[in-house]
Amino acid sequence: MGGIKIAPSILAADPLFLGEALDNVQGADMLHLDIMDGHFVPNISMGPAVVEACRRGSNLPCEAHLMIEKPERLLSSFIEAGSNIITLHQESTPHIYRGIQKIKENGVGVGISLNPGTPLSVLQSIWEEIDLLLLMTVNPGFGGQSFIPAMVEKIREARHLIDSGNKEIELAVDGGVNEGNVGEIVRAGASLLVAGSAVFGRNNGEGWQSFKEKVLQLEE
Ligand code: DX5
Ligand code: ZN
Repeated sequence: MGGIKIAPSILAADPLFLGEALDNVQGADMLHLDIMDGHFVPNISMGPAVVEACRRGSNLPCEAHLMIEKPERLLSSFIEAGSNIITLHQESTPHIYRGIQKIKENGVGVGISLNPGTPLSVLQSIWEEIDLLLLMTVNPGFGGQSFIPAMVEKIREARHLIDSGNKEIELAVDGGVNEGNVGEIVRAGASLLVAGSAVFGRNNGEGWQSFKEKVLQLEE
């Protein structure tokens, strides 16, 4: 179970003190940035300027989780902003492969995300192109929602598929991850935990410390 990675989701941080929030998550593996357009999901959040700011304000790599319709239209902006990984939703475009090609051509990591209702089988023809698989364990759009229990089995299936292939793919889980369910999520096979409220829901980095310690215990 060694080497579980954690990506704090800054959607849950106070935007007025974003710099402090970045300073508080020392030892994290990646920053997770939720990009929402009010169309693909019923909420609006941040754009490329925030990705650029996070790259300046932190040494951590940044994943841009694009919850936007037809993301291929905006890829250049997120590439120029310095995203290290760009994650596309399979459901957000009929041209997922075009998006993947553009991301790869620019030397950026390719992430693919699936909503809870989307089966893993849609990945069959793009499997070889993926660096990170982001399984949504809530309906995307908001932080602070409850983990959907049926997703544990989907994580297990994804782990099985990854292990039976040749491509090294990070298996990330996003939505409702907290200290209470993280053990089950890791045992099901997640290798990267995205956590918003669990990390930033308490002040002064306390949430981060406590969450990180919980994950470290799982590794012992
Ligand atoms: C949901 C986002 C998540 C969210 C997670 O649409 O993709 O990354 O920030 O927040 P928590 O951990 O609070 O569920
Ligand atoms: Zn996310």
